[in-house]
Amino acid sequence: MKFFLDTANLDELKKGASWGIVDGVTTNPTLIAKEGRPIEEHIRMICEIVDGDISAEVVSTEAGAMIAEGLELARIHKNVVVKCPLTREGIKATSALSKQGIRVNVTLCFSAGQALIAAKAGAYIISPFVGRLDDIGWNGMDLIRSITHIYKNFGFKTQVLAASLRSPTHVIDAASAGAHIGTMPFKVLDMLFNHPLTDKGLEQFLKDWNKAFAEAPVAV
Ligand code: E4P
Repeated sequence: MKFFLDTANLDELKKGASWGIVDGVTTNPTLIAKEGRPIEEHIRMICEIVDGDISAEVVSTEAGAMIAEGLELARIHKNVVVKCPLTREGIKATSALSKQGIRVNVTLCFSAGQALIAAKAGAYIISPFVGRLDDIGWNGMDLIRSITHIYKNFGFKTQVLAASLRSPTHVIDAASAGAHIGTMPFKVLDMLFNHPLTDKGLEQFLKDWNKAFAEAPVAV
């Protein structure tokens, strides 16, 4: 499963990229707004940090305007993937952009039926939101399983991107469910490293090493 960072924060992206395990980035209007820089300039800066698919979302709500905005976003960098919402207008824009060779990430997906529509429109990525479904008492991970199953049945090429992941368990479950991509906040990626036995084991290894060598009397 590819790891994407779900953030527009440049410091977080630089840190994640330095680990060599970040395959791409997802942004949304909320995340871009937090950084307070015009989207073109900010997405360009992200593309300089992470070499992989970088999702940039349109904010228009009518298909014609979404297409124009999508074309502008795609022009920023070859790695930009245009994000369109799963509305009737968004799907219309997805179909049109996909036919022009623009890669589209269809976002705000909350049902398998919606995911089928996105695949039929030629989406490059579908983004089902796991955490937001959990928030309303549904099982977000069931949706990932259902979409990967349906896409396999028909050989759809659309990649399933498990979005709105809130914990390391979400990431592991998304990988088990067959998601092609998991996008996560920096905090969740960082938490994936942690295990008390790793810390304890390393502490003991270094203690033993230092006892035998670093603290050993110098031979004369
Ligand atoms: C994905 O592309 C979305 O930006 C994101 O995963 C939403 O996550 P949230 O529900 O934690 O805001």
